[in-house]
Amino acid sequence: MKAQVIALVTAGVSLLSAVAQNQTGRLSIDFDKPGVKVSPLLYGIFFEEINRAGDGGIYAEMIQNRSFEDNVDVPVAWKTENATASLDKGTPLNPNNPTSLRVEAQAGGGVANVGFLGGGPRWNMREWQKDYLPKQPAKIAVETGKDYDLSLYARAQGSISLIATLKGADGKVLASKKIKGLGNGWKNFSVSLTPSATDANASLMVSSETAGTFWLDMVSLFPQDTWKGRKNGLRADLMEKLVAMKPTFVRFPGGCFVEGHQIENRVQWKNTIGDIAERPGHLNRNWGYYSTDGLGQHEYLQMCEDLEAAPVFVINCGMGHRDGGMYAVPMNEMQPFVQDALDAIEYANGPATSKWGALRAKNGHPKPFNLKMIEIGNENGGPDYHERYALIHDAIKAKYPDMQLIANEPVPNRTPDMVDPHHYGDFESFLSQVTRYDSYDRSAPKVYFGEYAQTEDAGNGTLQAALGEAAFMTGLERNGDVVAMASYAPLLCNPEWRGWNPNAILFNQHEVYGTPSYWVQAMFANNRSDQILPTELDAPVSAPSVIEGKVGVGTWNTHAEFKDFKVVKDGQTLFESDFSKGLEGWQTPRGKWSTADGVLRQTSDENATLAMVGDASWRDYTITLKARKLSGAEGFLITFGAPNDSRRSWWNLGGWGNIAHGVESSGLNGARTDGKIEIGRWYDIKIEIYGTKVSCYLDGQLVHTVMREPLRTTAAVAGRDLNTGETILKFINASANPQTITLELRGGKPGKIKGRAIVLTSKNARDENSFAKPERIVPREESFAVDAPNFTRTFPANSVTILRWK
Ligand code: AHR
Repeated sequence: MKAQVIALVTAGVSLLSAVAQNQTGRLSIDFDKPGVKVSPLLYGIFFEEINRAGDGGIYAEMIQNRSFEDNVDVPVAWKTENATASLDKGTPLNPNNPTSLRVEAQAGGGVANVGFLGGGPRWNMREWQKDYLPKQPAKIAVETGKDYDLSLYARAQGSISLIATLKGADGKVLASKKIKGLGNGWKNFSVSLTPSATDANASLMVSSETAGTFWLDMVSLFPQDTWKGRKNGLRADLMEKLVAMKPTFVRFPGGCFVEGHQIENRVQWKNTIGDIAERPGHLNRNWGYYSTDGLGQHEYLQMCEDLEAAPVFVINCGMGHRDGGMYAVPMNEMQPFVQDALDAIEYANGPATSKWGALRAKNGHPKPFNLKMIEIGNENGGPDYHERYALIHDAIKAKYPDMQLIANEPVPNRTPDMVDPHHYGDFESFLSQVTRYDSYDRSAPKVYFGEYAQTEDAGNGTLQAALGEAAFMTGLERNGDVVAMASYAPLLCNPEWRGWNPNAILFNQHEVYGTPSYWVQAMFANNRSDQILPTELDAPVSAPSVIEGKVGVGTWNTHAEFKDFKVVKDGQTLFESDFSKGLEGWQTPRGKWSTADGVLRQTSDENATLAMVGDASWRDYTITLKARKLSGAEGFLITFGAPNDSRRSWWNLGGWGNIAHGVESSGLNGARTDGKIEIGRWYDIKIEIYGTKVSCYLDGQLVHTVMREPLRTTAAVAGRDLNTGETILKFINASANPQTITLELRGGKPGKIKGRAIVLTSKNARDENSFAKPERIVPREESFAVDAPNFTRTFPANSVTILRWK
């Protein structure tokens, strides 16, 4: 989805790091005038089935492709040993689970599962299975002395017995159990395996004692020590990471996962409850793997309860992707979507005597789960959304008037309880939004900032990304009366299955670490103030960076044509297109570009296509061109100030599902007006880029003038913990220089202050944690003692500091 801000930053960063050393400043905290109360729900988490966050992640199942539905061609993640194996739809285990594995084995031969091995060319599973899998170590991690529960369904020709074996990386048997009593029909068998050694690269082999043919389905292996020992439960080490974030709510299950790559393959909660052998699962095409839905609605609600966090369930609003565009279910076909929402509430909260409440009780939870918040849609917008939102809003409010409803954007004619903006962008874009909610209309719906993260130039999670996010979060907390909730995204990632970058928590089959962004989330949530104390920060500000770089054209899910593309500087032509010469002079890193009849044509359905020209040092120029939409979801992306093809600023015409025009670039965000691009019409486009200023014209009309503002690389928020009586100051120094700040505690009494300082920092803003160095950047705690009411403290370069004192 297009929440990502593509931005221009390099000039800015070098400017920021070029400023003088030993900077000084002043911060006053006003104890006499306590400010707004901070929402107790402010810091929560957003869990999406992305990057194998669930299946192969926090969901403790150890077998990949346990029900053989992952791929229609090959038994992905299963190897044969002295046997042949094929997918078989002949005698299904049940109608929801049509495929099983047929194994013809020699005596002692069988099949082995390698766990959640990823990587390799996953877009072609045949190739992955044939070439990649045999060369890779398996990924089932077992620990000596622990018990692992194996459950499988099997049937056989004649009477044969199976042997279930946990094998170490070197092929040695770690644990083995015999499975007797197979017959013609499907039977369920359960055994417990206790490995004799710890091995992170074990595999599970199911073999036949004698030569013969047998079938397998729903082969499931779970550690007994799941989080809180729950059956079909969650991985304890990953849950501990979430517990340490002290989340007050959990938004689930997506994200794009809710919308589906095509609306048909959206997640449907009713398919995610009950016996796992009866759950059909579905293709999670957005993020490139099959979802077993073993971590389903009930397990999510249980997870929230175990975390003592409020559930925030996101429902599909009748919109999703289809054929490269945004599809809205016709209004007269919306009833099932409305009913799904109402039934989800009954499942969570209804009495055990109600239809769906009874099912919840049958699934092991007679008491209600206390669901109080529903988000209607994910990143949907525009008139189609407003109509569908209103329908679902009215139906829910009529039956459950107290249910808090979250909309993806403000909706005319209805007042949602909250709106959920998202922001992905670069460092500067976070610094420039520190004050975003200072002037927010206090009578407007409250804000749930449901997704944010530095995605541009953020490595796999740099300290710099965490610093920008932390600065932004000071603004959320300072406005904790209107910003009711916020969550970083995405939460979890197995790097072998990375569908999005960066993420808060990285894990493999046996290790886990938090990125600096994770630690910022944990630091803020563990040190939340109940009430704000007003602050005034007087610290160095960096000059705004001049806009510099290449220029170009592109589209988002749209086919379009461009012509008469010209770049002029001081009356001199820097570039003029001549498409009769084909693509000469153009780079076309993304999209399907061709020329014909003097025009440049883009005919791929990809997002963020790009054809570009020019030089990274170009500045102070005017771009003119003509553009025509041929088909698709949106309009045009006119690139400027791009140092390279992955760091670009653009004027987005007909963006956000063809409802608005906006400039997307750091320091320039916020320039957005309603607007749409029609098919078949040639538009005249002009963009003037001079210094830090951008002016955009459509058909001769000025649409936006925006300017980069100076950027502050320090940010602070102070408040009180009303339980402990402590003052909590969060100070972010996102610059490369130490900042010596004089703190003035206005209204504070003279005397000694003793407290704790929690500091997250590293030498270089680009430093990251990794599996090899998981604790390179983690918060360190120290005590401090100073004389009130005025004292100085030097905040290290690249640091987040939390001071707590009584
Ligand atoms: O957080 C990753 C993705 O970003 C989510 O699925 C979607 O909501 C957004 O576009």
